[in-house]
Amino acid sequence: MPKLIVVTREGEEREIMGETGLSVMEVIRDAGIDELLALCGGCCSCATCHVHVDPAFAGELPKMSEDENDLLESTSDRDATSRLSCQIAFGPALDGLKVKIAAED
Ligand code: FES
Repeated sequence: MPKLIVVTREGEEREIMGETGLSVMEVIRDAGIDELLALCGGCCSCATCHVHVDPAFAGELPKMSEDENDLLESTSDRDATSRLSCQIAFGPALDGLKVKIAAED
């Protein structure tokens, strides 16, 4: 299974194995990292699954939808590496991906 590295808000780094086909949000949630609230369950309507993605993987990420862009615009911690983790399908192409959980709004 591909590996995902998650950096928590406290700076703790966790390595978890993620099932192909799940979203990055689901992989993080299933690992019990509950600071990623993901309140809407992955419907792209809450922005509480906001993460900062390692720029080295930028070319491997799915294109950002207009809805995702609009939601990220409403967050205070947005930067060029921001994505909603529920909108990123996890799989072998993202093996070793590192994401940092964004600050809470
Ligand atoms: S879980 Fe709500 S937008 Fe991702």
